[in-house]
Amino acid sequence: MIDLHCHILPGLDDGPTDIRHSVEMAQQADRDGIHTVCATPHIRHDHDVRIAELPDRVAALNGALQRAGCAVTVIPGGEVAETIVGHLTDEELSAVALGGKWVLLEPRPGPLSDSLGATVGELRIRGFRSLIAHPERHLSADLLTRLAALVAGGALVQATAATMIDPPADRGMRLLAEAGLIHVLSSDSHHSRVGREVALSAGLRRLGGIDPVAEHLPWVRDLAPAAILAGADLTPPFPPRG
Ligand SMILES: [Fe+2]
Repeated sequence: MIDLHCHILPGLDDGPTDIRHSVEMAQQADRDGIHTVCATPHIRHDHDVRIAELPDRVAALNGALQRAGCAVTVIPGGEVAETIVGHLTDEELSAVALGGKWVLLEPRPGPLSDSLGATVGELRIRGFRSLIAHPERHLSADLLTRLAALVAGGALVQATAATMIDPPADRGMRLLAEAGLIHVLSSDSHHSRVGREVALSAGLRRLGGIDPVAEHLPWVRDLAPAAILAGADLTPPFPPRG
């Protein structure tokens, strides 16, 4: 499996401060059957993440993983705040986009608003696609309608794996899944010892029992994450259900 959203790089954002904990996060991933982890530090005004440094930081972590005998590979990416997209050059966006194309887009705090749709449209014009991060943190009465509109505009939706199995959030996640509005699961883990683990399998098992994902689980689990990392265009096999 591939984890498309993980704050695994040490000493950068609100992830681990010590590379030992980054290695522990990769070991958690390995135990869960994850072979590739995207390092997605916050690209946001309140975090001093320098995009040009990311390849070297990722290489250093991969070196530590090799020395530790961990078979997981870390690749560079970023969790790009909606509020910073307009301040990044195409080159900067490409450097943090998954597969050079898919921008893991963090909505501004609070309910989703029209501005997110405008940002998805702006990214499309600039040659990028949007992967909307953790919509479950942006609840509102019109969440499903807004997400369906974003999907119609070419976006895909990334939900957090742990929320699929954590009561009471799991009930809302079921509603999102039944509406055809969850396309991939990621860990969004920030530490090996605090908060969510780097793990996807339990959440995917739960998601795989929900129609319409049930008959498309291989697409959700394997094909879509791999295509995103390949920078491919991608259309979900199930449309949003109104
Ligand atoms: Fe995140």
